[in-house]
Amino acid sequence: MTKIKINSIKCIESLSYPDFIGLINQWNTPPGSYSTISKLAIFSHLNKNSNLLEVGCSTGFSLREFSSITGCSGVGIDISRNSIKMANYNKQKYAPNSQIVYKAADGYSYNPSNPFSHIMVGGNLKFFGSPEKMMSRCIEMIKDGGFILATPYYEVKRTPEKIAKNIHKMLGIPMSAFSNFTYKKVMDLYNKLEIIFEERKTLTQETNQEIEYYAQSVISRACKIHSITNQDIYDAMYKRLVKIRKLINSTRPYQEYVILVLRYRKSVYPNRYTALF
Ligand SMILES: C[S@@+](CC[C@H](N)C(=O)[O-])C[C@H]1O[C@@H](n2cnc3c(N)ncnc32)[C@H](O)[C@@H]1O
Repeated sequence: MTKIKINSIKCIESLSYPDFIGLINQWNTPPGSYSTISKLAIFSHLNKNSNLLEVGCSTGFSLREFSSITGCSGVGIDISRNSIKMANYNKQKYAPNSQIVYKAADGYSYNPSNPFSHIMVGGNLKFFGSPEKMMSRCIEMIKDGGFILATPYYEVKRTPEKIAKNIHKMLGIPMSAFSNFTYKKVMDLYNKLEIIFEERKTLTQETNQEIEYYAQSVISRACKIHSITNQDIYDAMYKRLVKIRKLINSTRPYQEYVILVLRYRKSVYPNRYTALF
């Protein structure tokens, strides 16, 4: 794997959020992690004949896990080159026999030669400047009868302005993602598709001890991967990850998430011939 040059604390601080996640090889998961992946796979009938695209795959977790449990093939794309480097590293190390590839590409302009049976967007669309535009691209890239898999967060209580601003600054999530963030508004992006499976989930906050143990495991592994032995650089990476996780943790009382399996059929889309409930 190409080594990423990290020789100062400044380097760590100046990386964008996706590049930092890529550097430390954080297994950036959809909310609910393995459990969500299992439900999405079962209710979308994912199997070894399926071909799945993951949009905004980060370090490759969802596609890798889908492929490991079902034998599906697929492509993961992300705009962050550092994340894609790590996705390839993880594939070699944790799922070497899977038929999956990772590519650095912009979701808006990615143009595959064949449509996919499944597209995983997870909770990622809110990281896109225009979620609607990315959703339209997904509709163009999905097979007739194919499934779009999504796990968006929504707000159950207004997120305090200070937290929203910090999330915007530290994670690069557009401020617009915090307005119109109720369940109904979030579902507007998805409910022109057929809702084959839906489950709403509450979030439980992690303790400081849980966050610190997680950060210690992730940063120790990252230092091994990049042959980093400098304690100051370890500390800077650890500090940045703990800060990010604590900030994300602070949003938990205001949010829930929904697991969605959505079917696209040419003969139905964008109409809805069943009541929502
Ligand atoms: C939160 S992370 C993904 C985490 C995880 N896959 C999930 O389900 O929540 C969002 C990812 O979207 C990527 N992303 C943002 N804009 C993109 C674009 N235009 N094309 C491809 N990837 C993009 C970011 O680089 C980032 O890695």
